[in-house]
Amino acid sequence: MERVVSGMRPTGKLHLGHLEAVLKNWVELQHNYECFFFVADWHALTSDYADTSEIRSNTLAMVCDWLGAGLDPQRCTLFVQSLVPQHAELHLLLSAVTPLGWLERVPTYKEARQQIKDKDLNNYAFLGYPVLQAADILIYKGDYVPVGEDQVPHIELTREIARRFNKFYGPIFPEPQALLAPDPRVVGTDGRRMSKSYRNDIKITDPPEVIWEKMRTMVTDPARVRRHDPGDPDVCPVFSLHKIYSSQETIDLVNVECRRAGIGCIDCKRMLYEHAMKRIAPIAEKSRSYEQNIDEVKRILQEGSQRARQEAERTMEQVRAAVRLGL
Ligand code: TRP
Ligand code: SF4
Repeated sequence: MERVVSGMRPTGKLHLGHLEAVLKNWVELQHNYECFFFVADWHALTSDYADTSEIRSNTLAMVCDWLGAGLDPQRCTLFVQSLVPQHAELHLLLSAVTPLGWLERVPTYKEARQQIKDKDLNNYAFLGYPVLQAADILIYKGDYVPVGEDQVPHIELTREIARRFNKFYGPIFPEPQALLAPDPRVVGTDGRRMSKSYRNDIKITDPPEVIWEKMRTMVTDPARVRRHDPGDPDVCPVFSLHKIYSSQETIDLVNVECRRAGIGCIDCKRMLYEHAMKRIAPIAEKSRSYEQNIDEVKRILQEGSQRARQEAERTMEQVRAAVRLGL
């Protein structure tokens, strides 16, 4: 079976953007591929090394949401990167064959260096972030890597590193391909892309009254000031969420009634809330039940990490032989 590998940094409780753009895709992939999904806690360390106090709790909180969304430890390997030290060993070997220029040209690196001012990113590991990511993928000989568009240059770099390694030491690594899922463009409460850092996000496990409050106060078509002003759903972030969560009937109704001021925005948001909760509530409930049973989550991750170590070790045996170190 072809292999899928992907990871997420431990950001804590996930929002609807993660759910609809990432987890939904992962859950589908687990039925057709041998999947390895992991918490990239070493990647968190490349920029958040000064305060590691939340990495563990964020790891567990996030994996509860993975399980809530339907990732099934019987169907895929769920693990923690730092529990598979082979990633670090491969990272070191890959770092030997990776020219600095390749890393300095990575768009996510250049942007972060320009934009992020509240942390010192002038450290060695941060530049090496994509080399560690390459190791994550290559150590499982991953065929496909489901990622967002911003990560495509990292997968391209992974292919280049694999090619260069194979050229020096022999053909060990297949070249992985990025797998871009249809991106539902989940917008946040302010109309921008939903993101924790914009503070416009709705978490899967926000209490229902918090979800309603966030939806109730969402930005709408700015031209629709009063109840009798007609609106344009095509410029309204509420409508864009309807398209993800609501029935075709509701979408059609909003599309007509908004334009002739037949419904008010609060009615419209209430309908969105009802439809969205049909999807979110069972996932949140399942996530909370894992939160209540965190030892079970730890057990799943320990077991997954053990399986991942076995697979990673198989590749490392080939890699060590190819590089011809030791005795
Ligand atoms: N860099 C990825 C992100 O920020 C996370 C990640 C780490 C990853 N290692 C990976 C994704 C390996 C795919 C494969 O989203
Ligand atoms: Fe947006 Fe709905 Fe209000 Fe129209 S009725 S502006 S779609 S919230």
